[in-house]
Amino acid sequence: MTVLAGKAAIVTGGARGVGRGIVQRLAEAGAKVVIADIDGDAAAACASALGRQGLAVEPFAMDVREPQQAEAAVAFCRERFGSLDIFVNNAGRTDRQPFLEMSLSFFEELIRLNLTGYFVCGQAAARAMVAQGRGGRIINISSNSGLFGGRGRAAYGASKAAIVNLTQTMAIELAPYGILVNCIAPGPMRTERTREAAPSPAFTCRMSLPRFGDPLEVGAAAVWLASEACSFTTGHVIGVDGGFTVTGVMEG
Ligand SMILES: NC(=O)c1ccc[n+]([C@@H]2O[C@H](COP(=O)([O-])OP(=O)(O)OC[C@H]3O[C@@H](n4cnc5c(N)ncnc54)[C@H](O)[C@@H]3O)[C@@H](O)[C@H]2O)c1
Repeated sequence: MTVLAGKAAIVTGGARGVGRGIVQRLAEAGAKVVIADIDGDAAAACASALGRQGLAVEPFAMDVREPQQAEAAVAFCRERFGSLDIFVNNAGRTDRQPFLEMSLSFFEELIRLNLTGYFVCGQAAARAMVAQGRGGRIINISSNSGLFGGRGRAAYGASKAAIVNLTQTMAIELAPYGILVNCIAPGPMRTERTREAAPSPAFTCRMSLPRFGDPLEVGAAAVWLASEACSFTTGHVIGVDGGFTVTGVMEG
């Protein structure tokens, strides 16, 4: 499958977890991909592992919270691969704390990374795409937790819900430039951080497919959103969540 041949992409937080699955699927679809991650060593290790599979990937150490570093990642992609066509905002933390105990610094730091980081990077990417004049695709990774309230998720859920609205506004303002902006909301994913064999019953009781998702399954959705096959869908949220967000009564 080479539906993304000739395209260049950046995936933030691409060194591991969900981001790595997105990097792999975009690259397998023919895109050249910059793995932009604050952990430069992990990005380099990921690039060398995927490079051994014949995929065109480059590591780039950067912090999504810093506008100059976001611009540097965009410049690196354009210099190395000739353009920036696809940008995936993925870097984020999933930390939770009870609302009554949550400190202001915890709340502000999580919002800074999970929401402000998406604004900072999305703006740098969109400005480059507008200057190129050939459209583009921006994909923001939200979460089931952005679509419902959830215990311990005052900061995380708020950041992920805000990403949905940010996506809608970006879609409206960037449409005249041929830039489509969509969101993917994953359910529980199996990543390097996962210790359990299956998601907790709090998840599986709502899941038609009661298992962890694979980051590659998020990557597959990203490939479609990044491809020419996706031509009339913008501002939307696509769930990759085993049915979690559409499930009502499961028994009886
Ligand atoms: N894991 C899940 O079950 C799940 C479910 C729904 C949504 N998500 C979303 O997927 C995204 C990735 O989550 P994950 O579970 O793969 O996380 P992870 O911790 O496994 O990976 C996150 C990556 O982002 C990088 N990163 C962290 N801070 C950064 C910064 N300031 N600048 C650049 N890179 C930075 C890390 O080094 C790491 O490589 C997040 O946005 C998360 O909300 C995850």
